[in-house]
Amino acid sequence: MRRACHPSMAKSRYEYVKKFEQQTVLLPGCWTVVRVDGDKFSSLVKEHNFQKPNDDRGLELMTDCAREVMRRWPEISLAYGHSDEFSMLLPSGCELYGRRAEKLASSFAALFAGCYVHQWGNRIKNVPLSAPPAFDGRAIALPSSLCVRDYFCWRQADCHINNLHNTTYYGLMQEAGLSSLEANQKLKGTSSANKNEILFTLCGINYNDVSLSLLLFTFKCVGDESLDDEECGNVFSQFPISCTGAC
Ligand code: GTP
Ligand code: MG
Repeated sequence: MRRACHPSMAKSRYEYVKKFEQQTVLLPGCWTVVRVDGDKFSSLVKEHNFQKPNDDRGLELMTDCAREVMRRWPEISLAYGHSDEFSMLLPSGCELYGRRAEKLASSFAALFAGCYVHQWGNRIKNVPLSAPPAFDGRAIALPSSLCVRDYFCWRQADCHINNLHNTTYYGLMQEAGLSSLEANQKLKGTSSANKNEILFTLCGINYNDVSLSLLLFTFKCVGDESLDDEECGNVFSQFPISCTGAC
């Protein structure tokens, strides 16, 4: 049984171990992005028969989780996600959790995972979740609004590189009847332009149609409508419009 401690007895001789706790405090004045990423989602999607390359139910579930995280921490001004990841932006002056990186990353990832379980049944109907999912989290300090824009461009470019590859790979199997080995061989060493060409000629798919819907689908800005801070507003207006051409 635990005994209640009198305040004067609160410091025990064991308390020195607290000094071993390490903390990273993010630089003041920097924007902060917290990115969460699903742990071993390649296996999770296989196990639950997600559609390939993108399963709308899974992407909607991810967005539900991001919305919930944004409700819990209204300081978040923007969220962007695709696949099994979501990046959430905190404004430069935000003092949430004393800007402690580990606290921010672990709190966001933990709530995200909790929501994923809690809301699974709303999106993935009649398929029980076979094991508890996990998300990792990291907090990144970005020194300027240009870096913020480039960060989101980077994630968006990653989204399109992976998606073009996956769409072509599965297109070759599903539409052109190639085996997995043949599809991989066909794609080996190809550029984005080659993949677009293969997708159009062999699979009858115009990636522009796919990418537009993907962009609309995966760019989920679920931020506060009242983003009136000038700096934040600038970042907001530069993304994603100006980066789609550049990426
Ligand atoms: P770790 O993050 O290192 O644990 O690896 P991971 O297995 O989670 O892979 P990673 O985060 O690098 O990539 C996410 C994986 O989830 C990729 O393999 C995607 O193909 C898969 N994935 C995410 N969303 C979907 C989807 O809607 N459908 C399908 N079929 N796969 C998806
Ligand atoms: Mg992952």
